[in-house]
Amino acid sequence: MSDIFNAEQRRFLKLLGLAVPGESPVLPLAKNQAASAPARAETKAEIPKSIASSLKAPEGIRALRAAAGVLSAPPKAAGVAQPVAPEPQPEIPAEPEASSLPDLPAPGESAEPQRLQQISASDWRDLQIMVHNCRACSLGETRQHAVFGAGNPRGSWLFVGEAPGAEEDRRGEAFVGRGGQLLDNMLKAMGLTRQQDVYIANVLKCRPPNNRDPLGPEVQSCLPFLQRQIALLQPRIIVALGRFAAQSLLQVTTPIGQLRGQTHQYQNIPLIVTYHPAYLLRSPLEKRKAWEDLQLAVQVFAAASTASS
Ligand code: URA
Repeated sequence: MSDIFNAEQRRFLKLLGLAVPGESPVLPLAKNQAASAPARAETKAEIPKSIASSLKAPEGIRALRAAAGVLSAPPKAAGVAQPVAPEPQPEIPAEPEASSLPDLPAPGESAEPQRLQQISASDWRDLQIMVHNCRACSLGETRQHAVFGAGNPRGSWLFVGEAPGAEEDRRGEAFVGRGGQLLDNMLKAMGLTRQQDVYIANVLKCRPPNNRDPLGPEVQSCLPFLQRQIALLQPRIIVALGRFAAQSLLQVTTPIGQLRGQTHQYQNIPLIVTYHPAYLLRSPLEKRKAWEDLQLAVQVFAAASTASS
C-alpha cells in the first residue's frame, strides 16, 4: 500500500499516527498505556492540536473529497426528510419541567410499549427531552449527564460510537475525551468537521460505570433512541465506530474484523464499520486499517452522492 503514497501522503499518514511500512510508527503508545487497559479506557492524546491543525490532506484525498462534495456541507438529497432543526448543540438542557414529561401509563400497565411509541413519534426536541429524562435502565441513576450527541444534525455523515466515557458524562457531549480528539483528527483527515458535516451519536446515551461494556438490556432500552435519531437525521452514510455500534445497528453478532471492509445497509443507508477510536489509542498499529475503512467510506459517500444527484 505504501508504494501508492507520495511523499505528502506519507507525511500525512505519519502525522495522523498511521503506520507506514518500513517506518516505525510516529506516535507510539504513551509510556503509561498498559496493554491490559480496560475496554474503553482513554489514554493520552497522540496528536497535539498544534500538529493536527496543520494537517493538510494529500492531493488524492482532496480530489476524492471534491468528487464527494464533502468540503462544504452538502445539501440533503431532494425529497429526503430533514430533521427538525434543533437549537445549536446542547449545552445540556436543564432537566425539563414535569409538564414536559410523557404521559404515565395506567397502574399495572407496562410503561415500555408506551415509551417506545413515544420515541418513534417524537421530533428532535422531544427526543432530546426523553433522553435527558430517561430512567429506563439503571444507568439513569449513575450518570451525571445523558449524552444525546454532538455535531451538526444537518450534516450528511453520522458516526456512531458505543457509550459516553467519563469526560462525556461530565460535559454531556459525545466524544469530547481523548477518543474524541482522535475522532476529530480522523474526520479532519477525511475533510470533515463535526461542526459542519458530521453528527455523532452513541448506542448508549448514559455512561456505564467504570466504562464497563454495555449490557444487553441497556442496549435494548437505549437503541430505540438512536434508531429515532437516524430516522430524523436521514444521514447519507453511517460510520459505526467499534463492535458495539456495528453489531447493534446491524443486529448481528459477527466479529468486527469480518464486518470491516464492506458496505452494509442500515435501512437503505450505507453503513461502514471501523475500529473505535479508544481501541485505536490502545492499538496504534490498527490505525492503518481504520484509515482504509475511512477511505472506503469517502468513496461510498461519493458514489451515493453521485447516484442521488
Ligand atoms: N466513546 C464512545 O463510544 N462515545 C463517546 O461519546 C465517548 C467515548
